[in-house]
Amino acid sequence: DRRYAVFGHPIGHSLSPRIHEAFGRQFGLAVDYRTIDAAPADFPEAVHAFFADRGHGANVTLPHKAAALALADTASEAAHRAGTANVLTRLEDGRLAAHNTDGAGLVRDLVDRHRVDLRGHDALLLGAGGAARGVAWSLLDAGVQSLTIVNRSSAPADALADAIGEPARVHTRYWEDLADIGSYNLILNATSAGVLGKSLELPTALVGARALCYDLSYGTAAIAFLAWAKSAGALFAFDGLGMLVETAADAFELWHGHRPDTDPVYAMLRG
Ligand code: ATR
Repeated sequence: DRRYAVFGHPIGHSLSPRIHEAFGRQFGLAVDYRTIDAAPADFPEAVHAFFADRGHGANVTLPHKAAALALADTASEAAHRAGTANVLTRLEDGRLAAHNTDGAGLVRDLVDRHRVDLRGHDALLLGAGGAARGVAWSLLDAGVQSLTIVNRSSAPADALADAIGEPARVHTRYWEDLADIGSYNLILNATSAGVLGKSLELPTALVGARALCYDLSYGTAAIAFLAWAKSAGALFAFDGLGMLVETAADAFELWHGHRPDTDPVYAMLRG
């Protein structure tokens, strides 16, 4: 039987096995989905061993998303643009295909779950690493009015804006200038500060009237940013749990050919 897994390091408290098993139950499928902890040096070998032994699909999370794209034989447009992959799928001929569902998952969580009309939003994207690159194009495709990218070091922000190539809608600013760049009604935290246990110390003036603040991470990693957002007066502050469930749904459909219902699984995880 086909096997599925999520690769990460660490990977202990990944929610992905519960999500994929719950999706499987919606279709009477017993999904064999496990976590595989691989240190970066061991990641390529662990992936090849998995796919050589009945592996059909794998999710990939920190710190392996760039390595996942690098070892794949073919990549989707979304993975190419992001420079990272969170899904690896074994094709019939044995080659590995890379895909990135982060951007689509974020947009579905915002638009379908939280009922946000992105066309009315000027978005501030904090970070320009893998997570930010995974969602930037999708936010633009979904119609945000403008996208301002701010990164602690300016070079990755400039590189991302250049790669997108829409100077009329995409701007970069210096991190040092955050206090003076005005306010936004959509602020997305795509930095890894929360995961690393660091706080960002952002000026409250960034938060515009009726603003929505969103952290791409979830659980304890998102607590500090969401607390800042609420204290700064944001109307909405969401973590990335919904995005995680939506990104998993895309992988599930790719592998099993069924579109799962994400709402009951989201509710189960929210508890
Ligand atoms: P991920 O895949 O989570 O995006 P990454 O590609 O390593 O991980 O990117 C991490 C991002 O978080 C980068 O934008 C990084 O900023 P730098 O490019 O300047 O390193 C950002 N980041 C990490 N820790 C941060 C902190 N304490 N304050 C601000 N930005 C931080």
